[in-house]
Amino acid sequence: MSETNTKKVFIKTYGCQMNVYDSDRMTDALSEHGYAPTTEMGEADLVLLNTCHIREKAAEKVYSELGRIRDFRDERGPGAKKMLIGVAGCVAQAEGDEIMRRAPAVDLVFGPQSYHRLPELVAKAGAERVIDTDFPEEDKFAHLPQPRREATIKRGLTAFLTVQEGCDKFCSFCVVPYTRGAEVSRPVAQVIAEARALADAGVREVTLLGQNVNAYHGLNDNGRSVGLGELCHMLADIEGLERIRYTTSHPRDMDDDLIAAHRDLDKLMPYLHLPIQSGSDRILKAMNRRHTAAEYLELIEKIREARPDMALSGDFIVGFPGETEEDFEATLDIVRKVGYASAFSFKYSTRPGTPGAEMDDQVPEPVKAERLERLQAEINALQTAFNAGCVGMTFPVLIEKPGRNPGQVAGRSPYLQPVHIEADESLIGQILPVEITGTAKNSLSGTIVTGKAQAV
Ligand code: SAH
Ligand code: SF4
Ligand code: F3S
Repeated sequence: MSETNTKKVFIKTYGCQMNVYDSDRMTDALSEHGYAPTTEMGEADLVLLNTCHIREKAAEKVYSELGRIRDFRDERGPGAKKMLIGVAGCVAQAEGDEIMRRAPAVDLVFGPQSYHRLPELVAKAGAERVIDTDFPEEDKFAHLPQPRREATIKRGLTAFLTVQEGCDKFCSFCVVPYTRGAEVSRPVAQVIAEARALADAGVREVTLLGQNVNAYHGLNDNGRSVGLGELCHMLADIEGLERIRYTTSHPRDMDDDLIAAHRDLDKLMPYLHLPIQSGSDRILKAMNRRHTAAEYLELIEKIREARPDMALSGDFIVGFPGETEEDFEATLDIVRKVGYASAFSFKYSTRPGTPGAEMDDQVPEPVKAERLERLQAEINALQTAFNAGCVGMTFPVLIEKPGRNPGQVAGRSPYLQPVHIEADESLIGQILPVEITGTAKNSLSGTIVTGKAQAV
């Protein structure tokens, strides 16, 4: 009989890394209430979609997926066990009422600020449809369970750790300040405790997360505000934790302390995601980014002075309202000047409720498509060049998992490139010097250097 007591939850995650982190926290919260995770929807008593609202396509996907899940549930016939359907994440927060209206099969809708109440909400949803999209005053992180040791061990050698959530920047294209609310930093002690627990469970690399992670200003035990640079120093002291990354940063919050941390901490990886979105000052102003292209380039120079091997990645939006061919060329220009190791680029998507949606001069779809193609060609060429430049160099690689073929392992370089190595699986978990011998489209291959000190 004991088997029937364990219920199963199936979670499908869309969007950014913070949603990945949140899905794991939901799994952890539910496991304390008798739910085990499953990767088979057919086994699930509870199906959760953790959704993303950042672009129209991402948001619309939720409704088609909900239709599929409803059909799946209905086809199982009346004798099948009950299966609750819930929607979490940023679409739930932005249009919870609409989901309830458009998708009657949904039992439960709840926003990112309600995850610590999930078990209670699920219990209620068994009897009636439930919606919870409030922004409560309480600290949700203080109420969320710590990552479970067994679950962390299963999740592997790298982990995400949310240190900051929400955003006060209000870029004119972006929904995040509305879906995630005002910027909040977790207290230092909470972050350190979670990082220690991760390291104890075998995690070697942690990626600190926040929509504006470098705006982090958590309070320490004396009530003093601590910035991200200082936090990185504290994390670097944790034994077993060997690599620290953070994402996503805003150029305006890249302060001197954080730049100095890149100079002083070997554990802080020399790879920085620092989006600029556009290379045109006119468009940057309309986007409410509150800095110029020249200021961004000066900042990059300062960062590279502190850490000469720093590689950069970024995000770009093409076809923001009013963007001319000249503005777009300024974007191509900054891409070349910075020489990104990789970058994400998107067509501007009009988001309801944001200032951008009200602007004149919306750019026609074919123009956006054409610009995106040109930008991506430029970015791909730079990425290929960056990868090619790695050949012959020796990097420390975190050996993470078995490779595709027997006798192979796969790891990550400091620049997050996947590295394929002919080596034994017993090396998994170690950070070893690897000489890069070849490149493929999105990865490197190499051989472990023996008898040499580890290169950094
Ligand atoms: N906090 C991060 C961005 C989070 S959203 C930052 O400030 O950089 C991730 C990326 O999605 C953004 O950097 C932007 O490039 C893209 N994005 C956000 N809103 C968008 C929109 N309305 N249309 C197209 N892309 C968008
Ligand atoms: Fe969105 Fe801008 Fe905030 Fe990033 S900084 S989350 S792009 S509003
Ligand atoms: Fe998407 Fe919300 Fe992340 S809108 S990008 S899931 S913060």
